[in-house]
Amino acid sequence: MDRPLRVAALASGRGSNLAALIAARLPVTFVLVGSDKAGAGALTVARDAGIPTLALNPRDFPTRADFDRALFGHVADSGADLLVLAGYMRIIDAAVVAAWEGRAINIHPSLLPKYRGLHTHRQCLDAGDAEHGASVHFVTAELDGGPVVAQARIDVRPDDSEASLAERLLVEEHTLLPAVVRAIATGRLRWQGTPLFDGQPLTSPLTPAALAV
Ligand code: GAR
Repeated sequence: MDRPLRVAALASGRGSNLAALIAARLPVTFVLVGSDKAGAGALTVARDAGIPTLALNPRDFPTRADFDRALFGHVADSGADLLVLAGYMRIIDAAVVAAWEGRAINIHPSLLPKYRGLHTHRQCLDAGDAEHGASVHFVTAELDGGPVVAQARIDVRPDDSEASLAERLLVEEHTLLPAVVRAIATGRLRWQGTPLFDGQPLTSPLTPAALAV
């Protein structure tokens, strides 16, 4: 590709992962940040960075699929090559997601396939795990179920709470997500029906160290 990768992001919350992406000075152009919440901090982060924003309210649409078709229609219109779900907290209609196969990634705060969905830090503590982590995966119709491409790990400490785990993990997320987007932008990480890194199918999730080389 002879131009920077065009990246759109969807986010429902405060937008710290989006802020980390922007701060990483990646060889990409951010073309749109969309949200299902007009008050999402992520929209402020985007506006402050001069990135076009869009908020649609799911209640303004008769069905979830109608909402998803509208939102993803805007994403398509933005000309995005890659869609990053950076704290986007809605399940997406399967047919809508299918059109983005290999072109959409999500960051999830667990060591997938463990703990899909919500309350991942609590689930990790309840299970007594020695390790916690975050995963970046290609998005498929299955919630938090697409092929994992990279993971960051942290130790669980005896005195950890949900809040302390979330806080420590977020620091790792802020390195992991930009590293994956950089790998896609530079062509190291590609999708050919399955993820390829440096031309080889991934046999296990990349680590932040492998992505930094
Ligand atoms: C992040 O921890 C991200 O991993 C998580 O939401 C948070 C968003 O924080 N995503 C999910 O749970 C998706 N299933 P942010 O708005 O500060 O980036």
